[in-house]
Amino acid sequence: MASATKTAPAAKSDNKAPTVTLIDNATGKKIDLPVMDGSVGPKVIDIRKLYAETGYFTYDPGFTSTGSCQSAITYIDGDEGVLLHRGYAIEDLAEHSDFMEVCYLLLHGELPNPTQKSKFVHDITYHTMVHEQLQYLYRGFRRDAHPMAVMVGVVGALSAFYHDSTDINDPHQRMIASHRLIAKMPTIAAMAYKYSVGQPFVYPRNDLDYASNFLRMCFMVPCEEYKVSPVLAKAMDRIFILHADHEQNASTSTVRLAGSSGANPFACIAAGIASLWGPAHGGANEAVLNMLRAIGTKDRVPEYVKRAKNKDDSFRLMGFGHRVYKNYDPRAAVMRKTCHEVLEELGVKNEPLLDLAMELERIALEDDYFVSKKLYPNVDFYSGIILRAMNFPTSMFTVLFALARTVGWVAQWKEMIEDPSQKIGRPRQLYTGATKRAYVPTTKRK
Ligand code: SDX
Repeated sequence: MASATKTAPAAKSDNKAPTVTLIDNATGKKIDLPVMDGSVGPKVIDIRKLYAETGYFTYDPGFTSTGSCQSAITYIDGDEGVLLHRGYAIEDLAEHSDFMEVCYLLLHGELPNPTQKSKFVHDITYHTMVHEQLQYLYRGFRRDAHPMAVMVGVVGALSAFYHDSTDINDPHQRMIASHRLIAKMPTIAAMAYKYSVGQPFVYPRNDLDYASNFLRMCFMVPCEEYKVSPVLAKAMDRIFILHADHEQNASTSTVRLAGSSGANPFACIAAGIASLWGPAHGGANEAVLNMLRAIGTKDRVPEYVKRAKNKDDSFRLMGFGHRVYKNYDPRAAVMRKTCHEVLEELGVKNEPLLDLAMELERIALEDDYFVSKKLYPNVDFYSGIILRAMNFPTSMFTVLFALARTVGWVAQWKEMIEDPSQKIGRPRQLYTGATKRAYVPTTKRK
């Protein structure tokens, strides 16, 4: 696999490191397992030798207590509601930075100086066009296809168009593929939207910033110029920042696992898009809007909160709860603030869905069930209200999440490829099926 470059010094487990002792009560055998320490957050028990020395696997479906890798990109303290990207708090980045700068930070580990930023923005800008042949791929889809289905298909096909940046062992090709993915995702996403509404595709413009370019590619029609609102562009840019990366979530883990086999980066990102689509993950923003529409009015909120608490009812409050955050998702707080800014900019005096969402949040956060299970609004709870106000159809919400998360997926994929200890991911299992038995010919079966 690729040689290591300037990744953070890997945490080491060596003989002097603290250990935990595992005692097999069936045999009395003891094994000392090294404890590894990161820069912040829970320590880990290094179980890499466990099976070889004990014959046991560990069992942790959903990986609730399992670290899959070492990473220096993002850190979440779920109890405190803290999210850091390379050490910088998400609130600071959302307030003071911009998405291109956050992309550089995630990819390279440091905030860019003015020269580095200008070159990075130029490099991304000059990769925003897609191969002219790519547009014909869209014509194979029905116009009413879900845009996420289009994204999975088109992004997966990129390796057929950009074969010259698929050699994962070549650092230059890894960098080009990373830039191409970050740069082309808005163009591909906007084309998915335009195709769904039967409007012509709009080419990117090199004189616009990343978020403004995307808004123009989505909402400009040939009959008249489209003037991008600076407030909406800033809100879009901030929404991209809030969705950029989030440790080893389901879609990022999907990208890492796909990448661990040596698959090309375009195929890995397409796998990430597919995983993100699920309503338990990135599909929740679309599900929140559908839930709010189903609730309809404030007086029906208690009925739905009751359903969410009913074990026999599969209904869950979409946009609530999180595997890691057992406190308010810091992104949700910024999103709620942005929501008010965008509605004010758009002159939306009262948005019933926002009123409903805030009432739902108020009731849920006072309810023992949610308090005891530490279920708070997550990043998806308010984002849909903003995107709807910006005229995006609900079906585009997860597409925007995928657009923004591409830099996180790419940064995590790059970190994995450059990790000298990296190997193909291949979990084991607890087998509960039939043990070995003789084949029974058809004539002898009952
Ligand atoms: C994202 O991982 C990431 O970082 C993801 C993400 C990212 O940036 O990549 O942050 C993006 O995916 C945010 C989450 C979006 N999903 C939703 O909003 C869907 C609704 N939320 C849930 O489905 C759920 O909270 C999850 C999937 C987000 C987390 O589920 P877990 O960690 O597996 O928790 P769980 O299902 O074991 O729930 C614990 C308890 C259960 O009750 P008990 O069985 O213990 O009695 O809390 C209950 C659940 O029933 N519960 C909910 C609930 N979420 C959890 N009950 C009602 N409504 C909910 N939303």
